[in-house]
Amino acid sequence: MASLKFYLKRVKEGRLQEMWRQTLWIYSYAKNNFWTVIFYTVLGMSQSLVSLGMAYVSKNLVDEITGYKFDGDLIKSFVIMIVISMITSVISQITSYISAKISMKVSCEISNDIFEKILNTDWESLTNYHTGDLLTRWGSDTGAISSGILSFIPNIFIYSFNFIIAFWVLIKNDWTFIIFAFAGMPVSILLSKTLLKRMVNNNKRAAEMSARLSGFNQETFSNIQTIKAFDLIKLYTDKLKKNQQDVIDMKLEFQRMSMGTSLLMTFVSLIVSNASYGWGIYRVWSGSISYGTMTLFLSQAGNLTTSTRNLTSLIPSIISLTTSAGRLMDIVEMPREDYSDNDKVTEFASKYKEEGVSLVLKDVKYAYANGTLVFEGADIEARPHEIIGLVGPSGEGKTTMLRLLLSLMKTQDGSAEVISGDGSKSDAEHITLTPATRKLFSYVPQGNTMLSGTIAENMRNVKQDATDEEIIEALKAACAWEFVEKLPEGINSMIKERGGGFSEGQAQRLSIARSLLRKSPILLLDEATSALDVATERKVLKNIMKDEYPRTCIVTTHRPTVLSACERVYAIRDKKCVVLDQDEIDEMSQVF
Ligand SMILES: Nc1ncnc2c1ncn2[C@@H]1O[C@H](COP(=O)(O)OP(=O)(O)O)[C@@H](O)[C@H]1O
Ligand SMILES: [Mg+2]
Repeated sequence: MASLKFYLKRVKEGRLQEMWRQTLWIYSYAKNNFWTVIFYTVLGMSQSLVSLGMAYVSKNLVDEITGYKFDGDLIKSFVIMIVISMITSVISQITSYISAKISMKVSCEISNDIFEKILNTDWESLTNYHTGDLLTRWGSDTGAISSGILSFIPNIFIYSFNFIIAFWVLIKNDWTFIIFAFAGMPVSILLSKTLLKRMVNNNKRAAEMSARLSGFNQETFSNIQTIKAFDLIKLYTDKLKKNQQDVIDMKLEFQRMSMGTSLLMTFVSLIVSNASYGWGIYRVWSGSISYGTMTLFLSQAGNLTTSTRNLTSLIPSIISLTTSAGRLMDIVEMPREDYSDNDKVTEFASKYKEEGVSLVLKDVKYAYANGTLVFEGADIEARPHEIIGLVGPSGEGKTTMLRLLLSLMKTQDGSAEVISGDGSKSDAEHITLTPATRKLFSYVPQGNTMLSGTIAENMRNVKQDATDEEIIEALKAACAWEFVEKLPEGINSMIKERGGGFSEGQAQRLSIARSLLRKSPILLLDEATSALDVATERKVLKNIMKDEYPRTCIVTTHRPTVLSACERVYAIRDKKCVVLDQDEIDEMSQVF
């Protein structure tokens, strides 16, 4: 009783509680596949019943052959046995097809769900994870969960069912065999208890290591240029070898651990089965049972040992399953983005299409999770048809400001709103910036962010029904048409991974074209013209300004040429945004 209380207490706190929470989480997925799980369970149980039937048929067969039972029909027993075997193998072929189909479906469902959840996770929290780590979690851990649901849960029932059948058959016919069946159990329990902790640790380490390896590989392949340029090939091949060696060492350690266990288990079950064999012979010799009964007993005693062993072997499975669940929960339980204003923003966008929208930030504070305070008491505003400049030395917070506007991160103080029109009307509508307001924005991020696919596909990502003419028009406005036009396949030319195949400046112009095509009320450019020559830059900005669309535009920049095109220029100073007067702008232009 006291020990039960102790275990209950252990369950409530610490590792066991964690495992319990993880099990519940897995259950939430299993619940959606309730009938599938039932199907697998019934399937497994009927297989057990068939093999029990077989055991009885072969008992009769043996009794007939040994002459113990004279009234039987030998041919009939043979036929029954063959027919049962045939039916079983036909059924098992069909069910293995069905189960392959179901398992693919379930695993797709779960990975889709996790995929969607990862994408919906708060951006800043997500950036704490290496993409290689995310990939491993989404790939291997999700796979472990889906196969776990389809095999682990049914197996609990199937193994228990097998255990009960065998137990029942034995008890019903000759209870003495039970002793042998249970003889191996204490050893199994003892082993699994000491192994539990080591297994949990090993599992966690294995998962971390494979995440690290996948991160390493992914990063290496996407930075081949840098690796070559710095002559790091030897270093990287060595690093891979080192990583692989770590994985091998750990796997071998695990192998050694399970090798000892298996050997011991085999030894125990050999002794048990041989002892029961001997006991059976003795019982037959003493005339207590028939040969047939002995074969039945031996097969059932074997079943009992096997199902006991199978039940204990579920322990490592539950450990690796809950480890995977924990790793996925780490991610999907991070803060989700709030899209509750979605409909409101959609309505807002169409209502103020003609007037445009203003952006107003007041007294904003923001510090990254690592404590870097970037803004405190910062104000900034931008109205339709304005281009607002945001300048400041590198690392002062320009990109951070744009991320705040896009609600990639939440402001920690003050207000951040979009307001209908220029905000001067008394009935102007105010909406607080949230992930839902992103649909009002177009963004040209720093760096190359084109995706692999054709130019047209990249453009249609942001406006699915865009015609070729619209695409070309946007390319022209971004001064990209001049080089796209010359490509043999025009807008159907392929862009490689991360904008490969185009120069920095060309990729920037494609990226600007993409944002113009989206025709959203607010445009954010993050040093988006940094790789353009001055003449092209001026042309692009002019095109943006002369666009009929009532655009509100914020550009971060270093270039004096850009500053002269701005309605207002803010400089980031002392964590605030201060408006520069003309003298200061001129002075700044000269410093550049
Ligand atoms: N993801 C991040 N986590 C923590 N600190 C960050 C992160 N991104 C940027 N910072 C810090 O915030 C400050 C502003 O960065 P940023 O806005 O990128 O500057 P810039 O003006 O050059 O665009 C820098 O000190 C930088 O180190
Ligand atoms: Mg920046």
